[in-house]
Amino acid sequence: MTTLAAANTPSAPNGSVAAPASRKVHKSLDEKKPLLRVQDLAVSFDNRGGPRIQAVDGVRMTIYPRQTLAVVGESGCGKSVTAMSTLHLVPRPPGRFDRGRILFQSDAGERDLVTLSEPEIRSLRGNEIAMIFQEPMTSLNPVYTIGDQIIEAILLHQKVSFSEAQQIAVQSMREVGIPNPEQRLKAYPHQFSGGMRQRVMIAMALACQPKLLLADEPTTALDVTIQAQILELLREIQRQRQMGIMLITHALGVVAENADVVCVMYAGRVVEYANVFDLFDRPMHPYTRGLLASIPKTREKIDRLVTIREVVDNDAEFRKLPGAEQGVRPWWPWHQPPADLAARPEPAGDYFLQEVRPNHWVGVWRTKAVADHESRPPDLDYRISDDPSRGGVAGRV
Ligand SMILES: Nc1ncnc2c1ncn2[C@@H]1O[C@H](COP(=O)(O)OP(=O)(O)OP(=O)(O)O)[C@@H](O)[C@H]1O
Ligand SMILES: [Mg+2]
Repeated sequence: MTTLAAANTPSAPNGSVAAPASRKVHKSLDEKKPLLRVQDLAVSFDNRGGPRIQAVDGVRMTIYPRQTLAVVGESGCGKSVTAMSTLHLVPRPPGRFDRGRILFQSDAGERDLVTLSEPEIRSLRGNEIAMIFQEPMTSLNPVYTIGDQIIEAILLHQKVSFSEAQQIAVQSMREVGIPNPEQRLKAYPHQFSGGMRQRVMIAMALACQPKLLLADEPTTALDVTIQAQILELLREIQRQRQMGIMLITHALGVVAENADVVCVMYAGRVVEYANVFDLFDRPMHPYTRGLLASIPKTREKIDRLVTIREVVDNDAEFRKLPGAEQGVRPWWPWHQPPADLAARPEPAGDYFLQEVRPNHWVGVWRTKAVADHESRPPDLDYRISDDPSRGGVAGRV
């Protein structure tokens, strides 16, 4: 099999097909400008007469070109809803945008995706922004060949002829390490292994050279070797194309290996946001500390792992933030709000994402101590590969 690294070089071996002249290339991006800014996003779902389910409640995050933002948090915390909202893929109804903006640097300038019409968002979907879904196995149509499905996606978004689309499809399949793509185009999804189907989904997502890739658990269903290959492939493509990636995952190992910046969510809100080193070295929200404590470490011999529960049930863990003596407390929905709560009369007014140290944000209660504080929204243009103190990619944790 062609190695992934070789498959990604422009001069890939095995008679690589040159890109058709008409293949779309987006304007090169100013890497100092955010590609995506999610501002105070709130999305809820109708609950058949009961109170609405507030799936996302004031989420904020920023993604820069050539940067990977990992979004982590337990099942149901709103990761997929955040990503799917970006492309209007949340069914409405029962879903509803309650508030917030999703600002995207499109080829036509900055747009608030929340306000776009269906035709407008369709022109961005798959073209400037692509998504790899959590369950790719169900996203391929079993009655059409792989080629038909990739070519259809290309024809939908690019002004190319059928034969050019075919060439792009072959090239995209080669890029993701699918051997003999010319022959494999004629195969049906059931003739592919799980890992290969996943690569097909990625080939489809990348065929139109999106500027932003929303990767929702892209490798969860795969064994670790294929998982590592696919993530390396995404990093390679990211470097070549300045692509921003929102990487949604449960796996902290995947975060450590792939993220530049990490956004930890809990119950629809952001509880911690920092670059990957600060987050792993100095986690500040008890939930993040619990998450990190609950994973085994190769160099430590211990009888049993600490559970997240043990950390978040320990009151002392909530009294460690800078300003704790003045009443700065991590937000936690299962606690009684602090007695000195000074909630603002606005949605999620009991909560506040505060920059507690430079470039490190923690979700805190809006107590008297921070009643009048304003905070810079979470925004880090950090990329490990540009960090001389980490020696680029080789310096990853
Ligand atoms: N179509 C829907 N209708 C009703 N509720 C929904 C819908 N989609 C999501 N939700 C609810 O929104 C909340 C957030 O869901 P979301 O899918 O974003 O979680 P997640 O963080 O991606 O979890 P997982 O790690 O399991 O994928 C959950 O409470 C979920 O039940
Ligand atoms: Mg999900």
